[in-house]
Amino acid sequence: MRTVEWAHGKVRMIDQRLLPAEFRVLELETPEEVARAIREMAVRGAPAIGAAAAFGLALAARRSRAADRAGLWRDLEEAAAILRAARPTAVNLAWALDRVLRRCAAESDPDALREAVLAEAQAIADEDVEVNRRLGEVGAAIIPDGATILHHCNTGALATVDYGTALGVIRTAHEQGKRVHVLVDETRPLLQGARLTAWELQQLGIPFTLIADNAAGHFLRTGQVDLVLVGADRVAANGDVANKIGTYKLAVVAKENGVPFYPCVPTSTIDLSTPTGDDIPIEERPPEEVTDLVFRGMPIAPPGVRVANPAFDVTPHRYVTGIITEKGIAYPPFSVSLRRIVENPK
Ligand code: MRU
Repeated sequence: MRTVEWAHGKVRMIDQRLLPAEFRVLELETPEEVARAIREMAVRGAPAIGAAAAFGLALAARRSRAADRAGLWRDLEEAAAILRAARPTAVNLAWALDRVLRRCAAESDPDALREAVLAEAQAIADEDVEVNRRLGEVGAAIIPDGATILHHCNTGALATVDYGTALGVIRTAHEQGKRVHVLVDETRPLLQGARLTAWELQQLGIPFTLIADNAAGHFLRTGQVDLVLVGADRVAANGDVANKIGTYKLAVVAKENGVPFYPCVPTSTIDLSTPTGDDIPIEERPPEEVTDLVFRGMPIAPPGVRVANPAFDVTPHRYVTGIITEKGIAYPPFSVSLRRIVENPK
């Protein structure tokens, strides 16, 4: 199945909190339930939460008891506000909600509006898969045969509706017959690399080695990495990139060692209305995500410790070699190349 999909009037999604131990599918019936699934990261990854939020609006349209168009629109706006507040950093969430509302605004008949909302949400989900496949083709062109690729977090099918962004590039290169090997950062604190990326790569039969996050610098310095591929939650107009916490450190060490660093993003992740990385809101997540791990039967920290848990960091554009999108690769100066790519209709 897809990571998130519409089925028989409900939103179905893979519960990523339980992987790799258990494959369970959630069936959600209200926009509030979808917002909660996004907040609690049952569904995660920028494109996947965008699609989930769009389907959340379709649930709101379906459940609304409003008899007239004005009442239905109010219900939609209320649901959009709840969904939008679920997570702040990934721009795909707001992008998807805004797209559904904008494209459906002209419908004057309530039934037509209900149908239009679902059709637009479905279009966002279908396009995501298409876009990722194109992104995979664009990116695979720069992957040398025999490459060792360092990867952070999870950017695969689970982070999108299907196929993946940075992992999609790796997957395309593998499908093209190139020999690739992936160094998988475990990605503390929620272990998206160890739990999700390793699970996906295993199923795809792509060779990989799981490493502790702290080991990445060693592999970069000793010449064992050909390139670093990551996803992103938001790319600012100047090319600064917000992605999973720990990405910045990787980019700096990659540059220090002459290793190319490429974020791979659908153009829906590029936010030209955000001038620089300093303008990107960084989500602070609950302290328990850092402390509530069990190591050899023991908690990993004493009770009551103070914790900081920023979920993302910003990599300044000077560390970015290029930004791989479904419409081509943007190179510096990003303030010119990103705008050109976003505004190019193809
Ligand atoms: O907190 P998460 O797991 O939602 O963070 C995900 C990431 O940081 C991904 O790299 C990003 O969303 C791109 S996924 C294609």
